[in-house]
Amino acid sequence: MTLANPKVVLWRPMYDLAGHDMLKDAGVDVVIVDTPNVDELKQALHGARALWVRTPERVTAEVLEAGKHLAVVSTSGFGTDNIDIPAATERGILVVNHLGFGRIPVSEHSIMLILAAAKRLVWGDKAYRDGSAWTQRSGNKYFELDGKTVGIVGLGYIGSELARKLKYGFRCNVLGYDPHVDPRITNLADVTVKSDLFEMLAESEVLVLVPELTDETRNMIGAKELATLPPGAIVVNTGRGAVLDLDALIGALDSGHVGAAGLDVVYPEPLPDDHPLLAHEGVTLSPHIAGGTVEASSGLTQSAFEQITTALKGEFPKFPLNRLAWESDKSRRPEDTLL
Ligand SMILES: NC(=O)c1ccc[n+]([C@@H]2O[C@H](COP(=O)([O-])OP(=O)(O)OC[C@H]3O[C@@H](n4cnc5c(N)ncnc54)[C@H](O)[C@@H]3O)[C@@H](O)[C@H]2O)c1
Repeated sequence: MTLANPKVVLWRPMYDLAGHDMLKDAGVDVVIVDTPNVDELKQALHGARALWVRTPERVTAEVLEAGKHLAVVSTSGFGTDNIDIPAATERGILVVNHLGFGRIPVSEHSIMLILAAAKRLVWGDKAYRDGSAWTQRSGNKYFELDGKTVGIVGLGYIGSELARKLKYGFRCNVLGYDPHVDPRITNLADVTVKSDLFEMLAESEVLVLVPELTDETRNMIGAKELATLPPGAIVVNTGRGAVLDLDALIGALDSGHVGAAGLDVVYPEPLPDDHPLLAHEGVTLSPHIAGGTVEASSGLTQSAFEQITTALKGEFPKFPLNRLAWESDKSRRPEDTLL
């Protein structure tokens, strides 16, 4: 291990390949491991001071144990459930993630899915091409978003931006449910916050799910919650798949109580080929791409570059998840700058 040109392992290439050159230009020895093979990763980790990991690869205790000189591990985005953070803390390794990059792309994508469901976009495209559209189009109902009541679960970066867009772009009546909300955010977004989830659901002609995934939010929306929505409601999930119980959703779609759904995230992901949702006409699917715009990918890469190089200089980066790791007697915080 040398002090000059610290080794940084990228487990899979970065979203924006310009990040590789940015790290090299900063004096980093970049090693890319483009395989899910954990043994190859463990080999590459010899002497490495930082690891960047792209989901769905998992940084387990076994991986961290192989990185004897790791000072910092960076996620590729917001989610941290692919990293064993307690195991990193135990070993004195700092973990960082990247906040706020879903705000614009995921709020835009949520609106796209609401509109696609309300206007039956996927049916229309398919039916135009196979010639069936012209005999069927007047039998369908198409809805307007303007003026509708929209309930948002989770008023963080994405939820609050979505609220603003719906309120000022579509004159919606926007309700929110978020027991941990930052009041400054709701004031800015001008949302009516409900302290009772069911009270919000009962009014939500459109429901959008964008909370973080926690023990509280896992399976938060099931049969009882969907049954509380007004008949014909549209359900959109762009947050995390496990927040919404898919069996309950299929039941509500089959009964017609839920009119349509738009899902960028599902659990499990990807769905097995024979999953009933894949045959469901009322569902618009996108393959977990809401946050993956060119602009957001570039922002995430810049953030990873900044946080990794800051950590290699021995300074605290912007979004540490386990400060304790660098404050304990096992701390791997570089004493001198490595760059
Ligand atoms: N589809 C995609 O491509 C994509 C991209 C980026 C982010 N995301 C997901 O979107 C979600 C929101 O991201 P964000 O950047 O707005 O995060 P954020 O941390 O700013 O917001 C999350 C919000 O969830 C709230 N929350 C926590 N527990 C809750 C509960 N029990 N009920 C309701 N709300 C609760 C928090 O208080 C917080 O306000 C995350 O789950 C993230 O993983 C998806």
